[in-house]
Amino acid sequence: MIGGGIIGASIAWRLAERGVEVTVIDAGELGGEASSAGAGMLAPGAEITDVSIWQALALESLRGYADYVAQLTEQSGVAIDYRRFGAIELALTEEEWTGLRERSERQTFFGIPSEALSAEATRERITALDTRALKGALWYPDDAVVDPRHIMAALRVALQKLGVKLIEKSAVESIAINAGVVEVRSPEVHMRATDAVLAAGAWASGIRVSVAGEPLALTRSYPVRGHLTKYAAAPDTLQPILRHHHTYLLQRTNGPLIAGTSQEDVGFNRTVDPATEADIRSRAEALIPGLVKDQPSETWTGFRPAAEGLEPVLGQISGQPLWLAYGHYRNGILMAPATADLIVNQMVR
Ligand code: GLY
Repeated sequence: MIGGGIIGASIAWRLAERGVEVTVIDAGELGGEASSAGAGMLAPGAEITDVSIWQALALESLRGYADYVAQLTEQSGVAIDYRRFGAIELALTEEEWTGLRERSERQTFFGIPSEALSAEATRERITALDTRALKGALWYPDDAVVDPRHIMAALRVALQKLGVKLIEKSAVESIAINAGVVEVRSPEVHMRATDAVLAAGAWASGIRVSVAGEPLALTRSYPVRGHLTKYAAAPDTLQPILRHHHTYLLQRTNGPLIAGTSQEDVGFNRTVDPATEADIRSRAEALIPGLVKDQPSETWTGFRPAAEGLEPVLGQISGQPLWLAYGHYRNGILMAPATADLIVNQMVR
């Protein structure tokens, strides 16, 4: 397994459960990039707004998420903060309200249920909300939130218990396939395997792949930076995810409230931009006035793993012992369980 983010580690876990001998090699630490930076929204409600290649995977994953979390907790003994309180998307103008209701009708057709809420009903569900401009809201009952850092901690333990070998801080540079054998090389490691999975997120296409000495061009992967920032809040200030356009807020069970986000094409630049942080804070505080900056203040960036065409790259390279699983973009945390099942069912027959 090349890449130990939530996608690679989940595939490795499911393979090991089926008795496959697995090694995971990661350039950093298991889940050290997008998988621990993400807020952990399991929320097709606002993410899947039209029929697309994402929808089946997202909905299947959401349906199976509680089981994925329960199995992972049972095997690892690590508690995972998973909250299924739905999501609320706000309309602050008549135009937004019309747009949301149209969207809700489309989504009903492809399996995302929602319900229109009056301003009054919205206020009842989120008492801290500034409802002065509220025209209405959509309620997505199935959406949920998970702490992805807990998932990664649990995956680490589950992998170790199943005897999966973890090689961290070793960046794979090349994958060479010759006569059905895969050779994986990093500066520290030279490994042979019968099959390999490339799940290196935004870094995937930077790895040289060749078949019988001929280079193989992969769909380009690239990072889309996002900022998130944290507030201190009393537990249950916010049960559902709260969204308005590109602003979202969600809360962990023990209090911290996370607000996002930005979408920036700046390459692998991790720097927190103070202007972007201030913009997110002002958008979040306009929705929930009186939010209190976490002390010490914490704002971070993460690299969403995009792929050219903004579609996930999934499946086997035809006739070769190499599977690809990257490009999950905004929804890797959500789609990890169904991606793992998809790839593992193809690999183990
Ligand atoms: N899934 C939300 C985001 O990428 O910001």
